[in-house]
Amino acid sequence: MSTKNLEQIRLNAVQLIDEGKYQFMNGDQFSIKKNGFELMKQGCQELCKYAKTEINQEYINLAKEKLSLYCDELNQMKQYLAPFEEKQNEEQNKIQNEQNKKEDQNQKKQILKDNNIENNTLKTNLSNAIINEKPNVKWEDIAGLENAKQVLKEAIIIPMKFPNLFQGARKPWTGILLYGPPGTGKTFLAKACATECNGTFFSISSADLISKYLGESEKSIKQLFQLAREKKPSIIFIDEIDSLASARENSGTQDNMKGVKNQLLVELSGVGSDNDQVLVLGATNIPWNLDSAIRRRFEKRIYIPLPDLHGRLNLLQNQLKQTPNNLNQDQIKQLAQQLEGYSGSDINTLIRDASYEQLRIVSKATHFKQELFQNQLKYTACSSSDPQALKMTLKDIKSQQLHLPNIQYNDFMAVLPKCKPSVAQKDLIQHEQWTAQFGQQG
Ligand SMILES: Nc1ncnc2c1ncn2[C@@H]1O[C@H](COP(=O)(O)OP(=O)(O)O)[C@@H](O)[C@H]1O
Ligand SMILES: [Mg+2]
Repeated sequence: MSTKNLEQIRLNAVQLIDEGKYQFMNGDQFSIKKNGFELMKQGCQELCKYAKTEINQEYINLAKEKLSLYCDELNQMKQYLAPFEEKQNEEQNKIQNEQNKKEDQNQKKQILKDNNIENNTLKTNLSNAIINEKPNVKWEDIAGLENAKQVLKEAIIIPMKFPNLFQGARKPWTGILLYGPPGTGKTFLAKACATECNGTFFSISSADLISKYLGESEKSIKQLFQLAREKKPSIIFIDEIDSLASARENSGTQDNMKGVKNQLLVELSGVGSDNDQVLVLGATNIPWNLDSAIRRRFEKRIYIPLPDLHGRLNLLQNQLKQTPNNLNQDQIKQLAQQLEGYSGSDINTLIRDASYEQLRIVSKATHFKQELFQNQLKYTACSSSDPQALKMTLKDIKSQQLHLPNIQYNDFMAVLPKCKPSVAQKDLIQHEQWTAQFGQQG
């Protein structure tokens, strides 16, 4: 190192020491004195560096002498500062502690708030499950299923209207399970209950209850029952209940489902709570998948089978009332006979498909003729051999000018081969077996 640089180090060290000493002696605050001490310490370190690099022995000795003096001074300064430092540390700790406490509290508050929001959202989600507007499905709209209707009336309408009649052995039913092949009117029956009952009707699909978050579904079940008890008399309708309370243990979300199932069991058995005037109505297409403990909680298990001849006739008549058609009673009866194995919803699909048949004919037609309908001249499809036939297609006709014939028996015959029943024979056998073991005919 050059002598110039070395001299620079020495000067820097002296400057730091002088400045530090000055601040320490004259500073009227702990922080200034402390700063002075630090500057002096830094200066001493610089002086050490100088002494190690200097080669002139005389200068080295001089520096060492000074350093020993400064070290004594530094020690004294340190002793002087110690109590202040302690006090300051204490204060800082206190401030820090308070700050921590505040943060803790804020965090707690936030957690509480989050919880509250969560509870409230759960509650709002659940309030959405309350059916305020009646679905407008009447008992008469349901074809057949006389027994099921009777049981539901017995279980729902009468106890709600005359609660004092249900005392002692005559306890109202608290759990009713509707089961049977899909499309046979289970959900539809529940809608009729909602329309006809005067209490609060909760309709919950399993998807509402199975939320993505672990543990949350249990909470929502608990809240659902709480809300139902608050607003009693109530009916809780849980559609597709098998997905909530399946007996299968090997599903991917096993732990989650176990919790849900247990919570449902607790609520269904009314442990620690008064389930008076809260009826649980469940529906499922696969009752054999239900957990046996849950199954037991449904005291009444009603089989909702495929419609019989009388039911199918009823269904056809009801539906055709709403659609202009040319079928006479005999034809409807014939049709009903051919629809063995069709569910209610299959029959609805068939009618819809048949109602499209005339549209299909019209859109494929190559010849139309003009006829008077209600004093208006309109086009209607006809065969090319018709004396009045005009060669044209649907594109040539304005919307007001087209006459579409009503649904006819032939339309049904045309679509029938395409519209197959949706319920498999083996499922029916399984339902019959389950009914023999656990159920009751609906
Ligand atoms: N017995 C029935 N009476 C009147 N309509 C029915 C009947 N069964 C089924 N349906 C019709 O089929 C549709 C589907 O029935 P749904 O109740 O949803 O079947 P699921 O038994 O699968 O719950 C209903 O909206 C209704 O229009
Ligand atoms: Mg359904």
